[in-house]
Amino acid sequence: RELQHIHTAAMMQLRLKFEILNSEFRVHHHRNPIHHIESRLKSTRSMYNKLVQRGFPTSIESAKKNLNDIAGVRVVCCYIDDVYDMEDMLLRQSDVRLIERTDYIKNPNFNGYRSLHLDVEIPVYLSSKTEYARAEIQLRTVAMDFWASLEHKLRYKKEIPEFEKDSLQKELFECAQMINTLDQRMEAVKNRLAAGGQWEKS
Ligand code: GTP
Ligand code: MG
Repeated sequence: RELQHIHTAAMMQLRLKFEILNSEFRVHHHRNPIHHIESRLKSTRSMYNKLVQRGFPTSIESAKKNLNDIAGVRVVCCYIDDVYDMEDMLLRQSDVRLIERTDYIKNPNFNGYRSLHLDVEIPVYLSSKTEYARAEIQLRTVAMDFWASLEHKLRYKKEIPEFEKDSLQKELFECAQMINTLDQRMEAVKNRLAAGGQWEKS
């Protein structure tokens, strides 16, 4: 329960950090870069299973040391450049320590999955001590999130026959390429519209 409490606190702090960055961005740029934020705490059962799968001891200390994703925060942004802006703004904060960065946007997964993953550690101030908690942050666009939620369903559906699974994988891979093109074109339109503000002034 202590482990869960500390990681829930870390999740709340990270959500608040992103909400503040989002509202500040609105003050300067008149739009919100974040579409929405989700968070989840890993269940005790999933923690246990992951530790066993990876051959680690199944203790609280081991979970703290070996699992970066007890706390999970997903930040769904509007455009690709918002994802990287959010990353820069978060990592500039002096209490955020980056542990691992995996850029599945520049280097997509074999199946077409795209997102930016940041494993971070932040301090959690308790009544009589400071604890350091890790969290996995997934940053992605709305379009990437749309794709990932459908692909996730395919991954966990057991009753699909192999041939159909292969065909769906192929279809999803092609959708991922289309979504990438869409993200880039939408960003280009957004940037041209932003430049429009300057035409009015000139
Ligand atoms: P961990 O140490 O558990 O983080 O393992 P890892 O670093 O190999 O995993 P990674 O950080 O790449 O992925 C962790 C999470 O990202 C998963 O639990 C999913 O939520 C998400 N994810 C990664 N790959 C995929 C994918 O191909 N499809 C979908 N839908 N989600 C993915
Ligand atoms: Mg990871």
